[in-house]
Amino acid sequence: MSGKLALNGGARTVPEGTIKAWPPIDDLDRQMVLDSLKGTVHTFGPNCQALQEEFAAWNGNKHAITTNSGTAALHMCVAACDCGAGDQVIVTAYSWSSSATCILQHNSIPAFVDIDFDTVLMDVDKIEVAITPRTKAIIAVHLHGLPVNMHRVLEIARKHNLKAIEDACQSQGALFDGKKVGQWGDCAAFSLNQNKSLCGGEGGMFVTDDDTLNGKATQLWSFGETRTPVENRDYHAYALGWMYRNNDLAAAFARAQLKKLDHHRHALRWQSPGGLRTEAARVHELRLLSKGERRRRGTIHAVRPRRACRRRAQGC
Ligand SMILES: Cc1ncc(COP(=O)(O)O)c(C=O)c1O
Repeated sequence: MSGKLALNGGARTVPEGTIKAWPPIDDLDRQMVLDSLKGTVHTFGPNCQALQEEFAAWNGNKHAITTNSGTAALHMCVAACDCGAGDQVIVTAYSWSSSATCILQHNSIPAFVDIDFDTVLMDVDKIEVAITPRTKAIIAVHLHGLPVNMHRVLEIARKHNLKAIEDACQSQGALFDGKKVGQWGDCAAFSLNQNKSLCGGEGGMFVTDDDTLNGKATQLWSFGETRTPVENRDYHAYALGWMYRNNDLAAAFARAQLKKLDHHRHALRWQSPGGLRTEAARVHELRLLSKGERRRRGTIHAVRPRRACRRRAQGC
């Protein structure tokens, strides 16, 4: 590459139209959304129930609750783990704001842990110094499709009797040591917004294998009620709750996308000759994030340079 970068007024090297909108839409998406429209239940409908079952099966969890955002699912994690007013929750210093605001939303206090420079994930070796007698949980954020070292997080959580929450909003399908994210912690949250591998327009997913945590999350999800919308509701609020439920149209779209998710992930991984990473590594203005340990098998979320070398970008 020579001359000025497009960023600095040079000619663009990626022709207009090369970057396609995500996600690709086909007849399956159209059919499933249309079928939902033809149905009669548009709030928490049959597609929501089916999506929960299918996502739980795909990710290997006992329970899945579909929400209207990943942020809502994260708040459900904090509540399910009994983080109360004034309790501290450990979280990475670098993430999307929801990783920390979900803690504040429950009157708890985020305790930030610095990141590892090469992966920009939370530096797991710095977690223990942040633990105090008020610490209740650790939120491990699998950022940019790259999983945190969950062996280390769980080891620390067990030693200090803390709950482990996974913010897997950016990492559907990523594996650590051969096991999917969302299977490691006490509970986990995924996002289904348009930037994510699994898109339902907007939406989210709370997952857990623990019946008690599932019950607490369900209460927060739907007005503090103990019965789900498909059960015989008594319309009593037994605890503080919000309206975090997903709707049938979004769930129908997400179901169609889920059927194609593994295919998409595989295609993206191998699409560019030699891999996207190899190509990007040839651009000397970019410094790529490290993939970290061999045990990590990340997924495609977005390709982000860690830091552009300014002096080089300016042609110095
Ligand atoms: C790491 C992380 N956590 C949480 C969220 C929140 O998800 P949502 O936008 O679906 O509320 C996002 C969304 O971008 C995210 O990237």
